[in-house]
Amino acid sequence: MRRVPLRAVFGTATVALAALLSSAGRSATQEKPTSEDSAAVERARKTVRMLDDVYKTAIVLITDKYVRDKKDYPAGRAAVNWFKAISDKGWHDIRIIDATGDPYNPVNVAKDDFDKEGIRQLKTGKAFYDQVTRINGKAYLRAITPIPVVMEKCTMCHANYKTVKAGEPIGALTYKVPIE
Ligand code: HEC
Repeated sequence: MRRVPLRAVFGTATVALAALLSSAGRSATQEKPTSEDSAAVERARKTVRMLDDVYKTAIVLITDKYVRDKKDYPAGRAAVNWFKAISDKGWHDIRIIDATGDPYNPVNVAKDDFDKEGIRQLKTGKAFYDQVTRINGKAYLRAITPIPVVMEKCTMCHANYKTVKAGEPIGALTYKVPIE
């Protein structure tokens, strides 16, 4: 198996982040916000961008350094479990989901209209899609970011990634963070 240098991976991540930052302003919000509201929404977006870098860097590092064959504990599984722990603690909700239509685990899929529309938007090339939503009077930012096939190693377990169109994401991270 050809090893992709980590530099190349982080290069991809940097490009993705640059695209993410440039597209973050173009987002769908439901109500016209006041300037104070929009500053709060912008802070929530910044939190998502920061979390996205933290999580994706860890997933790539785990895969690069610890996963050697199919029996090793995959970063995707680690992510499912650590995201559940973070969500249970109440900081924010975060899930890793499939975008190919052929997930390893059928549970890891878009589960509501936001996720489904988000996957559609990411497939058109967007690096960030978000929406402000209210639940029991409290405001949240729903946001979704793409996961590209960053390493050839990914296809060791996800053979279907080989048939994904160049530039299309194979998965996504979907967030719900409080707007404060
Ligand atoms: C050693 C095998 C293995 C490797 C290598 C691997 N994965 Fe996974 N991946 C899994 C397993 C198993 C799951 C299901 C985790 C669960 O739900 O417990 C998973 C889940 C996922 C999911 C959630 C959707 C789904 O299919 O269930 C995504 C997205 C994902 N992996 C992306 C990647 C990426 C990107 C890479 C390369 C950086 C990668 N995986 C490398 C085994 C692997």
